[in-house]
Amino acid sequence: MISHHTSIPPASTDGDAVTVRLGRRSYPIRIAPGLLPRVGQAAGLDPTSKIAVVSDKNVAGIYLDRLKKALRGFRVETFVVPPGEKSKSIPRLVELWNGFLTKRFGRDMTVIALGGGMVGDLAGFAAATFMRGVRLIQIPTTLLAMVDSSVGGKTAIDLDGGKNLVGAFHQPAAVFIDPTVLATLPPRQYRAGLGEVVKYAAALDKNLFIRLERRSEALNGCDPEILTYVITACCRIKSRIVARDELDTLGLRALLNYGHTFAHAYETADDFDSLLHGEAVTLGVIDALRLAERLREKDPRFAAITPKLVDRQLALIRSLGLIEQLGPERHAGRWNLRFLMGSMRRDKKSVAGRARFVLPTELGKSTVVSQVDPEDVRQVLRRRLAR
Ligand SMILES: NC(=O)c1ccc[n+]([C@@H]2O[C@H](COP(=O)([O-])OP(=O)(O)OC[C@H]3O[C@@H](n4cnc5c(N)ncnc54)[C@H](O)[C@@H]3O)[C@@H](O)[C@H]2O)c1
Ligand SMILES: [Zn+2]
Repeated sequence: MISHHTSIPPASTDGDAVTVRLGRRSYPIRIAPGLLPRVGQAAGLDPTSKIAVVSDKNVAGIYLDRLKKALRGFRVETFVVPPGEKSKSIPRLVELWNGFLTKRFGRDMTVIALGGGMVGDLAGFAAATFMRGVRLIQIPTTLLAMVDSSVGGKTAIDLDGGKNLVGAFHQPAAVFIDPTVLATLPPRQYRAGLGEVVKYAAALDKNLFIRLERRSEALNGCDPEILTYVITACCRIKSRIVARDELDTLGLRALLNYGHTFAHAYETADDFDSLLHGEAVTLGVIDALRLAERLREKDPRFAAITPKLVDRQLALIRSLGLIEQLGPERHAGRWNLRFLMGSMRRDKKSVAGRARFVLPTELGKSTVVSQVDPEDVRQVLRRRLAR
């Protein structure tokens, strides 16, 4: 069983470290305020290392110089793509491959992904495939990338037909997280990342949940000390699950998808347009909770999901300034029961045409359920659409 009671000592000034245990492919995640200018030493790179830094224009504009300084003495080439999900594409991937070749990089190169999940996925997939796979270091710069996408080895690009349809598992050699870079992240992106943090806490870590409640003000102020604690806790949860189910074949990774059955339906209805992923997840976390609350009458597994617990979780979501409702402008077209129910059934994680849900059983614990009465799901969706 995955331990639900992680107890993490307070962050020292040197930050924290988590190891992702995968035998010979094990790697460290280092989390420390002010780490970015020190990644050169931290990475323990060979002096002859040839490094390709991949970033997007926004992130490069703020952090590329700092990273290059940290890598002084190494041969460094930089590859900057336009910001936004559109860059997770075949043309950008081909540009990277050809760019690596033009700069005479070979199998001994190291790719550093400096950016959010978009850069991590694109650069990660380029590293997974160039010369059948080269070394990858992740330096995530969004909260979502720090707590989720930079850890676990999933890399991918999008096709016109959908997101993340072509990809590979390629574990990084190291992940370096400097929470102080979050100070420049647009607030909306930061809050979307907090949606994933609340997901981890609500589904898998009661202590983290309590810490979030107590330190919500510090979190709203991007305090590096509490961020170090929170990011470490999330990385610890994810790395434990990844260590036991690296290739996502045992279904253990499903627990990381708390709130995501609803979230994916909302993102599809939204056509990946105005809702950020972490925002859809926040709505999904609320709706999974409401679904479990409904099931409480019929299923003893959900006996602890009382209205009081629902209110407590909503209170945290509010105190972190996360979204709780859909905006009125989003209610046209696909925002209806039929579309949302259909989209959940078609989700690649559904089983025999039934949507699969990760549902809470108590604070910080959850379970995978595939036999939910569609009428209960509809009721939750009605409430979501009603406002
Ligand atoms: N591989 C995985 O396991 C995994 C998991 C979850 C999500 N993802 C992927 O992650 C992507 C989303 O990632 P994201 O939410 O980080 O979005 P993103 O990478 O697009 O970044 C969001 C925006 O913030 C900007 N930005 C990033 N860091 C900044 C900083 N420190 N200061 C100022 N601006 C900054 C970026 O330029 C961009 O405009 C999606 O493509 C999704 O599929 C992958
Ligand atoms: Zn997610």
